[in-house]
Amino acid sequence: MFSRRTLVALGLAATASAGPCDIYSEGGVPCIAAHSTTRALYSAFSGALYQIQRGSDDTTTTISPLTAGGVADAAAQDTFCANTTCLITIIYDQSGHGNHLTQAPPGGFDGPDVDGYDNLASAIGAPVTLNGQKAYGVFVSPGTGYRIDDGNGTATGDEPEGMYAVLDGTHYNGECCFDYGNAETSNTDTGAGHMEAIYYGNSTSWGYGAGDGPWIMVDMENNLFSGADEGYNAADPSLSYRFVTAAVKGGPDEWAIRGANAASGSLSTYYSGVRPDYSGYNPMSKEGSIILGIGGDNSNGAQGTFYEGVMTTGYPSDDTENSVQANIVDAGYAITSLVSGPTLTAGESISLRVTTPGYTTRYIAHTGTTVNTQVISSSSSTADQELASWKVVTGLANSGCFSFESVDTPGSYIRHYDFDLLLNADDGTKQFYEDATFCPQAALNGEGTSLRSWSYPTRYFRHYDDVLYAASNGGVQTFDSKTSFNDDVSFEIYTAFA
Ligand SMILES: *[C@@H]1O[C@H](CO)[C@@H](O)[C@H](O)[C@H]1NC(C)=O
Ligand SMILES: *[C@@H]1O[C@H](CO)[C@@H](O)[C@H](O)[C@H]1NC(C)=O
Ligand SMILES: *[C@@H]1O[C@H](CO)[C@@H](O)[C@H](O)[C@H]1NC(C)=O
Repeated sequence: MFSRRTLVALGLAATASAGPCDIYSEGGVPCIAAHSTTRALYSAFSGALYQIQRGSDDTTTTISPLTAGGVADAAAQDTFCANTTCLITIIYDQSGHGNHLTQAPPGGFDGPDVDGYDNLASAIGAPVTLNGQKAYGVFVSPGTGYRIDDGNGTATGDEPEGMYAVLDGTHYNGECCFDYGNAETSNTDTGAGHMEAIYYGNSTSWGYGAGDGPWIMVDMENNLFSGADEGYNAADPSLSYRFVTAAVKGGPDEWAIRGANAASGSLSTYYSGVRPDYSGYNPMSKEGSIILGIGGDNSNGAQGTFYEGVMTTGYPSDDTENSVQANIVDAGYAITSLVSGPTLTAGESISLRVTTPGYTTRYIAHTGTTVNTQVISSSSSTADQELASWKVVTGLANSGCFSFESVDTPGSYIRHYDFDLLLNADDGTKQFYEDATFCPQAALNGEGTSLRSWSYPTRYFRHYDDVLYAASNGGVQTFDSKTSFNDDVSFEIYTAFA
């Protein structure tokens, strides 16, 4: 048994322990970018980790670690964002190089926000705990992206660099491209070898590995490499960890892909060797911008979740990366509840009443595949009551949230499609499951529940002209209007009419 004195000594040692970027510095390859919304990546860092903006008045605040080297102050975010929505506007660079990530601009492809910019991430889409302390990651839905074009200290040309990211291994898709790392300064595709970024997902358009994915690959532009060859490389495994460490490095005629469970164990090497023997990749023509959640040309169809990541100058040794992985494991990433407010229970049937003044006789119902609001009461016909009755089931894409099955059309669920809410039959696809999964939270106006899309957590069930949408607070669509947003996304929960 430890004596009390030993425990105190261990406690002190823990708070003073090196962060990932202290470890890279010791290894002779200092971080030139260090991004995380969950924790400080240097033992001495106590500055701003990220900036958030709230929908109620568009003001911003910064979130810092609770202590130097510690976990982000999630409670400060929760207080600032109470009764409204919040977006992550800046992910600060902790390295002192000023490589702060902000809303990605248009490039080869336009994003969906104003002037072709990409969307910003919800501040609450990716809650986790680190050794029991709550923090929030960056939940990237398709259309979301962050970038700095003129990176400071990043590798250019064939210069050596390293990078890692901690990701949600279960949140991915096959679109291009959920990346973190080095990309073009012009936001356009300038050719083979102009990027070197971590890719995570199950795209098979370029490279792929064993099984069905997802895989860690390296986006070197015009190709995702899973090993030395174009296309298939058997040594790059499909990963099924909830938390993934992806480590990538590249220098003159050498590069590597390594990966691990970010919550336990050590890194495995999936590739380490010479550059791909195809035109443009040896030597490399790296440009030194930094991207998160998108491709170098602002391709923005991919999804994923980012918790922390860094880029170094110089090619890290495997030993240095192994020490960083040990630090990540010690950080203690774990899942936590995605829901708040009134409890919903799988198996119960409910009716959801509008709370917007003037509309409070209306309930969420459907007419064919259109989800809408209708005036329903205890004197309505049974058929009409069934239109407004929903069976709560465990979330089809995430068991921490819920899906809503029609009582009069069993097997059909409320799903979002182009930000309309539709009643569609379950078609058994991953896309359908994700579109049909919603996370209840305490209603923004305090009356009942607000139902947040799991896959687009900036978006909520919202009635607008008596039709239901997946709406964001102040987005570009008419139904995203900020006017009456809190009331329009808040629904009182009742036992189902039928
Ligand atoms: C670039 O990084 C250096 C640290 O190496 C820092 O002193 C300098 O201020 C940075 N430049 C900008 C524009 O932030
Ligand atoms: C990615 O995986 C999903 C779920 O298995 C599948 O539906 C999709 O077709 C895959 N994408 C690609 C590009 O293989
Ligand atoms: C804010 O939300 C809390 C928790 O849901 C609720 O109790 C309160 O009534 C809400 N306040 C306003 C002004 O909407």
